[in-house]
Amino acid sequence: MKRIGLLTSGGDCQALNAAMRGVVKGLSANLEELEVYGFHNGYKGLIYGDYRLLTSKDFSGILTKGGTILGSSRQPFKLMQVPDENGLDKVAAMKHTYHKLNLDCLVILGGNGTQKTANLLREEGLNILHLPKTIDNDIYGTDVTFGFQSAIDIATDVIDCIHTTADSHNRIFIVEVMGHKVGWLTLYAGVASGADIILLPEIPYDIKKITDAIDRRKKAGNGFTILAVAEGAISKEDAKLSKKEYKEKLAKRKYPSVSYEVAAEIEKITGAEVRVTVPGHMQRGGSPCPYDRVLCTRLGAAAAKAIIDNDYGYMIGMVDGKTKRVPLKDVAGKLKMVEPDCQMIKEAKRIGISFGD
Ligand code: F6P
Repeated sequence: MKRIGLLTSGGDCQALNAAMRGVVKGLSANLEELEVYGFHNGYKGLIYGDYRLLTSKDFSGILTKGGTILGSSRQPFKLMQVPDENGLDKVAAMKHTYHKLNLDCLVILGGNGTQKTANLLREEGLNILHLPKTIDNDIYGTDVTFGFQSAIDIATDVIDCIHTTADSHNRIFIVEVMGHKVGWLTLYAGVASGADIILLPEIPYDIKKITDAIDRRKKAGNGFTILAVAEGAISKEDAKLSKKEYKEKLAKRKYPSVSYEVAAEIEKITGAEVRVTVPGHMQRGGSPCPYDRVLCTRLGAAAAKAIIDNDYGYMIGMVDGKTKRVPLKDVAGKLKMVEPDCQMIKEAKRIGISFGD
């Protein structure tokens, strides 16, 4: 008999259900007896003992279902070791729930912050496996995270739609793409949709370079310009500020986000009208794309194999096209960012895409 716990933590994304299905199907096909406990709303469920026993029915028909059947919540890592409002020691509470249920292991699906807590629980002696989810694709040690490809599809669709209306009206359009502090999603959706200018957090922009690129397009007979702007994009000037100074500046910014600021600056310099579209959480919604379904089925099945082998303390990642047990201690707390001079950026520049640098 194996007793495993499952939880999904942090911002949701497509294919969380597909990944849990992969784990459970991988175990059910290989074990006589299995008990699966699902913790509700991420680490909250583990801290406060809010869970349910799941049956095979729970995992049927969920390969294509977006969101998470367990619910999720954000529980910042930095607050994990701070007692809650009633003085409860959260780490001790999580260990208590784990031991009370006599779990063999806990499979945790989540992004960077979730992974740090997963690693903390590993250090505390629990058997942990982590599955890398996030539309941001910023988890170190895996080639790709699940949710990323599905979000690229949505962001690309948005920019495709904007393209036709931008063309009709000869307008400048900005589409703001999610991705937190990294530019993977913007880079891939921008290239996939033929954006003319792509702004990433990893490549601080110079507004003059942006308006020069718009001008060049105009002179070449193109009436419209599309900018794919990462929500974390930053100007060269702001990139020189300390973290604290930048935070203070952001708190005082009169625009709702960087895209509106860039739009206002372009309007000021060129006199042209600029429209901004922010697809926001749409990018995390809906069904997982086929790529993510396959990825999660493979990661889930590989996690099941690690459980059968009683081999814990890993993120199950995808490395060079193969599933891999990557030690959590080697990756927790590290961020995977776009390299400004990587091949893809060079190739995008070669075909004329401006990065505003
Ligand atoms: O990490 C996933 C993500 O969607 C980021 O791209 C974005 O910055 C953030 O979550 C939004 O967080 P929330 O859902 O808490 O608003």
